[in-house]
Amino acid sequence: MTIGERKSVAVEIPDSLPHSESTTAIEPALLQELKGFNSQEQLVLCELIKRTKRDRSVNGPVDELAVVVNGLRDFSTEDEWLFFLKLNEKIAPNLHKEFVGAKKIQLDTMFPTVAKSISEVINSRTSVRDFNGSALSLEKLSTLLRQSCGVRGTMFSYNRRDVALRNFPTAGGLQCTELYLVVNGVSDLLQGLYHYNPMQNCLELIEKGNFRWRVVNCCPNHEWLSEASVVIFIAPDISRLTWKYGTYRSYRLAHLETGVASQNLHLVATALGLGSCMVFGFDDERTDSLLGLDGRREFTTLVVAVGNKVDKGALLRKTTSRNDSISTD
Ligand SMILES: Cc1cc2nc3c(=O)[nH]c(=O)nc-3n(C[C@H](O)[C@H](O)[C@H](O)COP(=O)(O)O)c2cc1C
Repeated sequence: MTIGERKSVAVEIPDSLPHSESTTAIEPALLQELKGFNSQEQLVLCELIKRTKRDRSVNGPVDELAVVVNGLRDFSTEDEWLFFLKLNEKIAPNLHKEFVGAKKIQLDTMFPTVAKSISEVINSRTSVRDFNGSALSLEKLSTLLRQSCGVRGTMFSYNRRDVALRNFPTAGGLQCTELYLVVNGVSDLLQGLYHYNPMQNCLELIEKGNFRWRVVNCCPNHEWLSEASVVIFIAPDISRLTWKYGTYRSYRLAHLETGVASQNLHLVATALGLGSCMVFGFDDERTDSLLGLDGRREFTTLVVAVGNKVDKGALLRKTTSRNDSISTD
């Protein structure tokens, strides 16, 4: 029987279930569930529970039944189980990029809470391309980055301590997504190209300077990007995924994860009353070259422009009042 198929006939469970550490006690409810499996399968299931208990020992009790049910759902053959067990022996690659030696700008840890409900945010969300060109406050930028893509905790995982948990779901918890920012206008921040370091909650200055037209050069027909306060480039590092998922699935996962992160940025920007728009209309080579990415292991998947919106109501009022004052005599 392959794991995943349930036998309808109950099998005698040996007095002591086969498992490598006698300290792994099996709860009665689970013992009942395990009756449908042969001893080899029971061994694998017990091993999974043991590992889960060990990995999560600091986070309270483990729901053994849930571990088995999820295990069965995730791995339908013994080969997959064995792959999983071997994987658990591996150590994940470094999951956090850092520009060592770069000037670091610490972001606020205390951010203003966003009082809007999720329905209000979703209902008011729209792509905004008309920015008034005014500077964004550093506080708002901090909130935007921290709430949408920041770190909410750490856990022991993949034989690594302090693997970050992020404010957006990440494929395998491996956080392939990196954010690069072109800052055109943020108060108390030099114009330039930055990297967001979520672990340290800081911006790392890669190169200072006016990047407005270099961004437009990367994104043909998107001149309006020059008025955005910040242009955020979302770029995965797929080497964090390939050791686990292989190249093809990693490539797909990288696009999915960066899409999820982008939507968080878009929604938090909306909640903060800012305008934002996703942009896929960029030239791959020019953009990756601007960011210093090799285009293979690390590459841009999406751009999110953020800025203060043009007050269209005020514009209209201004135009109307100007028209009112024109004499028709
Ligand atoms: C993956 C993706 C790529 C996009 N690329 C661009 C783009 O290159 N340029 C642009 O002006 N808008 C772009 N958009 C925004 C869409 O044009 C916009 O979402 C759509 O017109 C619907 O409008 P709404 O967002 O206001 O509902 C993109 C949106 C998504 C989700």
